[in-house]
Order: sequence, then structure tokens, then C-alpha cells
Amino acid sequence: MPGGAYEVVAGAGALSLIEEKRGLLERDPFALIVNETVLGLHGDYIRRCFGDFHAFDIYGMPDGEEQKSYRHAERAFEWMLGAGISRRSTVVGVGGGVTGDFAGYLAALYMRGISVIHVPTTLLAMVDSSVGGKVAVNLSTGKNIVGAFHQPEMVLADTDFLRTLPDDELRNGLAEAVKHAFIGENELYALFESNDFDSIKNPKKLADIVYLSARFKSSIVERDEREGGVRAILNFGHTVGHAIESLLEYRGISHGEAVSLGMAVELELSVRAGLLDRAHAQRCMRLLERYGLSTHRDGLDADGLMHHMKFDKKTSGGAAHFALLAGAGEPVYDRAMPDGLVRGVLADVLAGEA
Ligand SMILES: NC(=O)c1ccc[n+]([C@@H]2O[C@H](COP(=O)([O-])OP(=O)(O)OC[C@H]3O[C@@H](n4cnc5c(N)ncnc54)[C@H](O)[C@@H]3O)[C@@H](O)[C@H]2O)c1
Repeated sequence: MPGGAYEVVAGAGALSLIEEKRGLLERDPFALIVNETVLGLHGDYIRRCFGDFHAFDIYGMPDGEEQKSYRHAERAFEWMLGAGISRRSTVVGVGGGVTGDFAGYLAALYMRGISVIHVPTTLLAMVDSSVGGKVAVNLSTGKNIVGAFHQPEMVLADTDFLRTLPDDELRNGLAEAVKHAFIGENELYALFESNDFDSIKNPKKLADIVYLSARFKSSIVERDEREGGVRAILNFGHTVGHAIESLLEYRGISHGEAVSLGMAVELELSVRAGLLDRAHAQRCMRLLERYGLSTHRDGLDADGLMHHMKFDKKTSGGAAHFALLAGAGEPVYDRAMPDGLVRGVLADVLAGEA
């Protein structure tokens, strides 16, 4: 991995491997940034795993995307200084993607950068946000605007945490894992095709999903840490997904649902652009449906979505760019598509008429 190789460990009980980093963690006091819900549900387990490390302080993060803000970061920096966190200290983030992005951001900037270890506790954080080194906070006017690339020392994806994760949050993470299956993780694709939403809740299968997804994402990031090229395939479903979230002002829709709708649209766009055969697109659509991932939604204005796509971070030269599929597990990226084609596909797919 650029910025230093690091281990991603996935499986039941993985948090106990924190012991391997005792040398790093005991150089100076460390900061444990923990989501408060997770602390309430798994506090005993977390304390057991960290209990005999000699010096650390816990910073509790309440729930909510608004916690991941520039303003809250300043408060956390002050707290770190007061807690004696030094240049030799480490930040450990325990929680979903909000906590992980925030903890990573603190580590990237504090005293010009200190070590970070991620302990993701949602499926989304395990398969996506904890891997790849992107860390950021939000401004009141935009998401993930202020950030850095800061790779962790280690990622401990302990699937025991998933026992308490609500189904909606599980689906959120599944959307990203299914994306990895569509764009090239063939073993994961086979696993999804031979299961359904209920059967993947088995701990061994969840561990396999996390392992295959995290390994796949790492292999892409290894080739292109800063998204100058191939990393853009990870945006499959996201050009449209982000536009849907922006149009709805992030209310009444989860990221997973937006990405899933985005994949449905971008699959059809791949077909109509002459890249993908319809039979494969239909197979992918059936797979989304099998996991209760949305493939259409009424009331989304295609012109409004076109407008939001043009303001996306991934847009250059005034045209929306897409990652698309040119075959099973064969993504292409940075494809500009004619406005008329995109508008037509949006209208048809979102109305369930493709
Ligand atoms: N850095 C990246 O590359 C990257 C990639 C994708 C998403 N993200 C970011 O990730 C964030 C979303 O992450 P998320 O979906 O994990 O959201 P989240 O962190 O808000 O967690 C979702 C909910 O799950 C609860 N929760 C967490 N772990 C739990 C557990 N084990 N049991 C029960 N409840 C639990 C939390 O309290 C919260 O209410 C967004 O801010 C997004 O921008 C970052």
C-alpha cells in the first residue's frame, strides 16, 4: 500500500489483535475515539480488549453525520492536547464511517500527522470507508470537503460488532460490497448469487464478505492511492448516487439506497451506451432486488439530478463522468456520456420502466 503497507484483519474477535500494536500504542498516551452507541452496546468488550494498555483516554462521539464537522474537529483537537496526546501517540477510531472519517482526519492533521488504527463497526465501514486512506470532515455547505489521504497502521474489522447492527445499516454496507462484486470481485459475486439477505447474516459469511471486499478495495487503492486513474472504478453507482443524495439534501435516503439506485441507472446506461449486454445487466438487477436494494424510486426529477451531477466533485469540463461496466466484472471509468442519453436513462430506470 502506498504510504506504507498495512494489515486489514477481518473476522470474529479481530479486535483482540490490537495486542500486536502494543509497542505503538504504549509509546505515549493514545486517543480512543469511540461512537457512543457502540460504546453503549459493546463497552465491556472494548474495555476488555484495551483494558490493560496503560494510558489512554476515551472521546465519545454522538451519532450523526453532523458530528463529522470542521467545528467539532477543533473541539476534539483541544481535547487531544489536554489529554496529553503527543506526536508519538496514536488515534484509534471505533465506530462506523462517521467515527472513522473523523478519527482519521484528527490523526492526519494533529501535530502534522500521527498514527491511526481503524476499528470499523458497521458493514459499510468494514467494506469501504476504513480501507483506502481517505479521511475528511464536512462543511455546512458540503460533505467531505476538507480532508486528506492518511493511511492507517492497521484495520481491525471485527465482525462480532455486526451482531447488533440493524438491517437497514447492514443493507447500507451491502450496497458497497455488491458494487465490489459487480466491478471485479468475482468470488464475492458468486457468494452473493448463491445467498440472500437472510442467509448472509451468518457470521462466517459476513466475515467472507468483509474480507473479499476489503481485499478488493485495497488492491485497487494500491494501484492508485490518490484517484488519478483506476481508483475511479470504485465510483460505479456513485455519480448518480451522489446526485440523488444532493437532490434530496441527504434526507429520507440512505447512502446505500442512493448507491443502489445509482448502480441500477449506471447498469442501464452501460447497456444503452453499447458497452454491456442486457442479459448481464438484468442478472445484476435481480441480485440487487434479492438483497432488498432499491432499483427504482418515484418522484426524483431527472433534470434536477442532471443539474446536481454537474456540480459533483467527479465532474470536469462541465460533463458528468461515469464508471460503467463493459462486461461482467469489467469496469471502465472516466466516461463522459451525452446529456440526452443520461436524462432518458434516469427517467426510465427511476420510474421502474427500463
Ligand atoms: N473514507 C471513505 O473512503 C468513505 C467511504 C464511504 C463512506 N464514508 C463515510 O462514512 C460515513 C457513513 O458511515 P456509516 O454508514 O458507517 O455511518 P455511521 O458511522 O453514522 O453509522 C451508522 C449507524 O450505525 C450505528 N452503529 C455503528 N456500529 C454499530 C454496531 N456495531 N451495532 C449497532 N449500531 C451500530 C451508529 O451508531 C450509527 O447510528 C459517511 O460520513 C461517509 O461520508 C467514507
